[in-house]
Amino acid sequence: MLAIISDIHSNLEALAAVLADIAGREVEQIVCLGDVIGYGPDPCECLDLVSRHAAVTLMGNHDYAVLYEPSKFNTGAEAACFWTRQQLDGEPDVQRRGRSWEFLSNLPVKHTMTHPEADIGDMAFVHGSPRRPVNEYIFPDDIYSNPNKIQMIFDRFAHLCFVGHTHVPGVFLDTPDFYSPDEVNGVFEVDPARKALINVGSIGQPRDRDNRACYVLAGDGEVRFVRVSYDVDATVAKVLAIPELEDYLGHRLKEGR
Ligand SMILES: [Fe+2]
Repeated sequence: MLAIISDIHSNLEALAAVLADIAGREVEQIVCLGDVIGYGPDPCECLDLVSRHAAVTLMGNHDYAVLYEPSKFNTGAEAACFWTRQQLDGEPDVQRRGRSWEFLSNLPVKHTMTHPEADIGDMAFVHGSPRRPVNEYIFPDDIYSNPNKIQMIFDRFAHLCFVGHTHVPGVFLDTPDFYSPDEVNGVFEVDPARKALINVGSIGQPRDRDNRACYVLAGDGEVRFVRVSYDVDATVAKVLAIPELEDYLGHRLKEGR
């Protein structure tokens, strides 16, 4: 089985809870779709954990922003990006500092693999979308407002495509349709003859009004959405104690928005 995680956003409590949940299952490999850092209070620790546990980690727009420069970020996100960069530069352990920057510099923007199970088959992984892997958002509303966009995106992968970036989990079909995890009772049955694009949700900053960390498991012919409770108040307290991180970045975690 494969565990696919995304959008950790420097939330150590959420990441640790998810890794503990994964450790209790028969997971062979973890794939991380990026945005390990940005927004949250523990960037160095999250980079350490992800680089140790994930077989593959992709470049997210916040990872890119910290490594290079933010583009089209709002004030709070940009301030968090610069603060994150300071934390990485200010890490007193020289080796750890080097490891963090090297890890970020080498993140690929896309990954593909063939699952050993025929019904899962070819899988593509990106942070945002197969058209613009780091930055493009695929929103549930696009199925109504921009069906051509969905079609063009579906033309760019073979069978299953896993994305993050919006922090809103669910399944897109080429009809086009969107199903939230609740609408499929938490489990999407993979059809070997039909493409699907799966948003795996966010570990460290869910935005679907459920404050639990979200990730997916792929295997046994299905994609399963998993929610994991963590100590949200501990993360919020850390955010509120760091002046460079705007308070709303903490408060939103409580509501999952
Ligand atoms: Fe993100």
